[in-house]
Amino acid sequence: MTKIATIEYVQRRAALLQQLPVGAVVVIHCAAAQIRNGDVEQDYRQNSSFYYLSGMVEPHTTLVLVNSVDGPRSIIFCRSKDKLQEIWHGRRLGVDAAPEALMVDEAYVSETLPQQLVELLDGATQVVYRFSQDESIELVQQSLVKLRRLSRQGKVCPTQLVDLDPVLDAMRLIKSVAEIEQMTQACNISVAAHKRAMRQCKVGMYEYQLAAELHHQFSVQGSQRVAYGSIVAGGDNACILHYTNNDQRLQDGDLVLIDAGCELDHYASDITRTFPVNGHFSEPQKIIYQIVLAAHEAALACIKPGAVYTDMQDAAVTVMVQGLINIGLLSGTLEANIEDQSYRQFYMHNIGHWLGMDVHDVGAYKAGGESRPLLPGMITTVEPGIYIDPEDMTIASQWRGIGVRIEDNILVTEAGYRNLTGDLPVSVADIERLMAS
Ligand code: GLY
Ligand code: MN
Ligand code: MN
Repeated sequence: MTKIATIEYVQRRAALLQQLPVGAVVVIHCAAAQIRNGDVEQDYRQNSSFYYLSGMVEPHTTLVLVNSVDGPRSIIFCRSKDKLQEIWHGRRLGVDAAPEALMVDEAYVSETLPQQLVELLDGATQVVYRFSQDESIELVQQSLVKLRRLSRQGKVCPTQLVDLDPVLDAMRLIKSVAEIEQMTQACNISVAAHKRAMRQCKVGMYEYQLAAELHHQFSVQGSQRVAYGSIVAGGDNACILHYTNNDQRLQDGDLVLIDAGCELDHYASDITRTFPVNGHFSEPQKIIYQIVLAAHEAALACIKPGAVYTDMQDAAVTVMVQGLINIGLLSGTLEANIEDQSYRQFYMHNIGHWLGMDVHDVGAYKAGGESRPLLPGMITTVEPGIYIDPEDMTIASQWRGIGVRIEDNILVTEAGYRNLTGDLPVSVADIERLMAS
């Protein structure tokens, strides 16, 4: 498994502190471990923002960054080495190894954090922490109360509380060269997994069996986990946008929609393809598929620095509405359907989302109330779809229950864009050819 070099975490911490005034202290907690039941914990997955700054995978860890007049200080509070705990639950980094492994200045055991934070905040100008993170809110509040009480001993309490998320989210939105490389690899693995699923798909399989083909390929190629719950939706199930039951048999003559992506060292991929279970699109399926594909291509054609999210959405909507009018699923003019959004009956989500360490990644979509311009280094999905309600008897039976989505992962570049998942067949002919091979 490839990993981002430890030095990049040092650079991220430095870049964060450069945006903060001298005297700022940053406090960020890891993800809390969650109990599943009894003595069993949920699979642990580190908090993305914490990992972005620390590269530390273990729970019960806190990172403190001090922008002191003498220069930046990075301090990790982590679990101590403990032979018995490690026999039962696995290895720990420990405070002795942490400074070199994480390239931080100092390391202490987590239990000392409440006391040490009071000292670290003494004389600080501002405390910067995640307003969305309960542990940080509680700890910062308690530390400030203790510090206030010590004012007669000359301790000085910071007066400004600043939310870390907007600063970090903006950093995470623009991917570095190493992040682009990591996400390219995640996308390559997911492309291989979708190809495997297309080849292995057979009439009568259960959806979960097809999901197993994807997950097998993810693991074989070094991915640690899925980036989100895989959607393997045969027939009508494709019209349920977040279908994850995956417990039905795949029927002859149906399409199957697979929306699945692996995670590689905390970076996500997110691909959707829709293909015929038996390897051949029927005519109605092909007609709907070609409309979605044309919308997908129209949205991609907009992508370049300076374009905005709504350009992609508008382009895709125009193509899909015209296509739906052409086959009689919408009536009236193109302009009227776009104006009254009647197409939302068939296309009820947006064109995409930022992609990064989280599948629906952080980063603002608007600036000053306007859709923000795309910049090189941003990665977005493009995922138009048409979903025709299987129970809507006002619609001709040949269309009912058809659900198609096509989703790729797109890096904005200086010249336009790079489709990181473009090696996965997407045309009707290429999909049918792959399935026959
Ligand atoms: N897989 C979730 C999404 O496409 O947004
Ligand atoms: Mn998806
Ligand atoms: Mn998506």
